[in-house]
Amino acid sequence: MTDHIELTHQQERAFQPQKLSAPRDFITPTIISENTDDKPLILEIGAGKGKHALSFAMQNPDKHLIAIERTRNKFDAFSKLAKQQDLPNLDAIHADAIAWIVYAIKPNSAAKIFILYPNPEQHNPNQQWLNMPFFEFLLSRLKVGGEIVLVTNIESYMDNAERQAAKLWCLPNSRHRVPTDSQRTHFEVKYLAREEVCWELNICKPKWYKTRFDSWHANHDRKYNSLSK
Ligand SMILES: C[S@@+](CC[C@H](N)C(=O)[O-])C[C@H]1O[C@@H](n2cnc3c(N)ncnc32)[C@H](O)[C@@H]1O
Repeated sequence: MTDHIELTHQQERAFQPQKLSAPRDFITPTIISENTDDKPLILEIGAGKGKHALSFAMQNPDKHLIAIERTRNKFDAFSKLAKQQDLPNLDAIHADAIAWIVYAIKPNSAAKIFILYPNPEQHNPNQQWLNMPFFEFLLSRLKVGGEIVLVTNIESYMDNAERQAAKLWCLPNSRHRVPTDSQRTHFEVKYLAREEVCWELNICKPKWYKTRFDSWHANHDRKYNSLSK
């Protein structure tokens, strides 16, 4: 494997983090601002009502999960349960994950990122996660050796994600079927009960991987000039 990657894995249209406004009422979570917790940081994008987030945090007290959900009514259900369970290693965030991650997450800091049953976006494939310029920014937030876990019941979404991971983003990845007794999320329970096949893609960030955002951070580097490197 090469120890240096040319900029061929990047989309011509670059993501522009400096154009995003801070999420409303944005507060940096203590785990990030105080930097005192040495637990691996895990992100979940589109956490829904929080079924996976709550059980993951409960079963992994040695890890810290930040789970983000944009839709108000789903977030309210998640937040209510999160407050009841009061897990010290879980932050439930109501926000658009794109702007929130841009403002909150440092480069090379997340050990794992879950994207479980994303919206299919079949009529707007530009909005599928691996088709978005934002995906390069997301990769910059992932630690070397870290992993993105993408799960869907839509075979064409998975076919495209697998192709994009390999061809556009040049990332090692592996695809497998989700076991039929898995129950991580509400959508997973629903699809497997209907005997649909669900697919999981595990994408790994190798040590040679570079993005144009590796030194970009919202708090101290608002001037976006790393594209010229
Ligand atoms: C199909 S649902 C799946 C929810 C949950 N992961 C599950 O499997 O039960 C997709 C979720 O992603 C959320 N979502 C989509 N785009 C998002 C974004 N940019 N930021 C935060 N949440 C997002 C939607 O609001 C929705 O709740």
